[in-house]
Amino acid sequence: MDYKKYIAEKLKIDGVTEEEVYDALALPPTSEMGDYALPCFRFAKIFRKSPALIAEQLKGQISPDGVISEVSAVNGYLNFKVNKTRLSQEVIGRILSERDAYGASDEGKGRTICIDYSSINIAKPFHIGHLSTTVLGAALYRILNFLGYKSVGINHLGDYGTQFGKLISAYKRWGDRETVEKGGIRALNELYVRFHREAEEHPEYDDEARAYFKKIEEKDEECLALFRWFKELTLKDVQKIYDLLDVHFDSYAGESFYSDKMGPVVEELKEKGLLVESQGAQVVDLEAYGMPPCIILKSDGTSLYATRDMAAAIYRKKTYDFYKCLYVVAYQQNLHFKQFFKVLELMGKEWAKDLVHVAYGMVSLEEGTMSTRKGNVVFLEDVINRCIEKALAIITEKNPDLENKEEVAQKVGVGAVIFGALYNSKIKDIVFSYDKVLNFDGETSVYVQYTCARANSVLEKGGIPESWEAIEPNAVEFELVKAISALPETVKDAADKYEPSYIARFAVDVAQKFNKFYFDCKILGAEDERTKNFRLALTAATLQALKNAFSLLGIGIPDKM
Ligand code: ARG
Repeated sequence: MDYKKYIAEKLKIDGVTEEEVYDALALPPTSEMGDYALPCFRFAKIFRKSPALIAEQLKGQISPDGVISEVSAVNGYLNFKVNKTRLSQEVIGRILSERDAYGASDEGKGRTICIDYSSINIAKPFHIGHLSTTVLGAALYRILNFLGYKSVGINHLGDYGTQFGKLISAYKRWGDRETVEKGGIRALNELYVRFHREAEEHPEYDDEARAYFKKIEEKDEECLALFRWFKELTLKDVQKIYDLLDVHFDSYAGESFYSDKMGPVVEELKEKGLLVESQGAQVVDLEAYGMPPCIILKSDGTSLYATRDMAAAIYRKKTYDFYKCLYVVAYQQNLHFKQFFKVLELMGKEWAKDLVHVAYGMVSLEEGTMSTRKGNVVFLEDVINRCIEKALAIITEKNPDLENKEEVAQKVGVGAVIFGALYNSKIKDIVFSYDKVLNFDGETSVYVQYTCARANSVLEKGGIPESWEAIEPNAVEFELVKAISALPETVKDAADKYEPSYIARFAVDVAQKFNKFYFDCKILGAEDERTKNFRLALTAATLQALKNAFSLLGIGIPDKM
């Protein structure tokens, strides 16, 4: 039963639709206040009355029944308390029957959403700065699929530009096949770093690099083969990380894929009179929109990042006919996205409004940050492996007899990395701390995983009752019921705001409430069979809700810990 709908149907407010009332109904922070609340501030303007008076008058419209047990007007809020037994019955019953599908919906049926995420650069380290885009994008991918959309995951590879000329030049001068083959990205990165160091004294290296890049563009066989090999090595290397994080893509069409698709875009810009010359370059003037010009072609006729992104957007619209196209990219690129979205809009692409830059903040390690050029980078792989090692050490200490410790440590370690990146609102900068993400008592994935293991062990001992029925829940039980009931709405909000953190917070909230329940209420030793069965059913429903939440985030849950 949809309680909000029930309340919205009963309340008749002149000039306000049932949907508006529905959307306005909120969950109060504490149960004492009520289970649902209608803030009346928003109606004050319409009725020219104080919110308190409006709440008082609306109160008269609803009398308690089998569903609503109490209505009160407090400080401009109309608060509702619901029949707790009935709500508990419905929530637990629904979860236990929907199982893995609890929280899913089909709101997105027939709609495709492209998600551009991870989008790594070839031959460059997959460093901790790529963590957020990778796990945020992968979470959105799953969340949107869960809501019935068809997600298309795109790894828009950075595989175009003079840096590949530099790499070829460096490889030819100092590299050898075997070392690079063995060293993968690290070896390629070393060559790249060395090139930059030495080019400072030998500017002619830069000319050589430009010449090599030109050769790639002209499809010179040797250069193209080297470039492809670098790409292959990089993708092979990063696959290890994608496997660990359980991240997948439907397309790896990167920047070079668009090298022959930019001509028509430039033509169209010309035709529409949008291109102007500026210091030899071809640009779109965006002064009227308070932005610097968007450069389309450099003075030597070469394309830019923005040009390739425009070609990519047009290609994606044509290929996938997307409902939305998301770009999970750091906020440092805010201007870039604003600019090329605007240019597409000026070209008359009405779908430009469906392009969304999902911006996120920086991740740094406690020790300090990194720079690719100087070579002091923190490889994501190292961070993940260190988390797994630390997890293994903690588990070994806490539970030395645990079977398959390695497997558990992997779930805990990888989960800690993912959760560390997803727990806060995405726009916030994060300082990654091993101790913090692996704290068993913190707001962490391992805390949630541990809680699940606890629930699992209760269920192993008590079994999931075949028949159970809700009893009048005590305050602790009811808090837990309400917490787990929030998953469907949380998933929807997470999708609407592109904020997987909502789901991470849901999981911590549920885990905290379950632990309170676990310590305050005897489950297996309950006073009577009916209470015991109810509590077991509540435990099973909690575990299911946590599993669903974590699977959307891409984090595994060990049975035992
Ligand atoms: N490779 C780029 C970088 O590392 C990110 C690409 C993001 N996607 C895009 N369509 N521009 O900065």
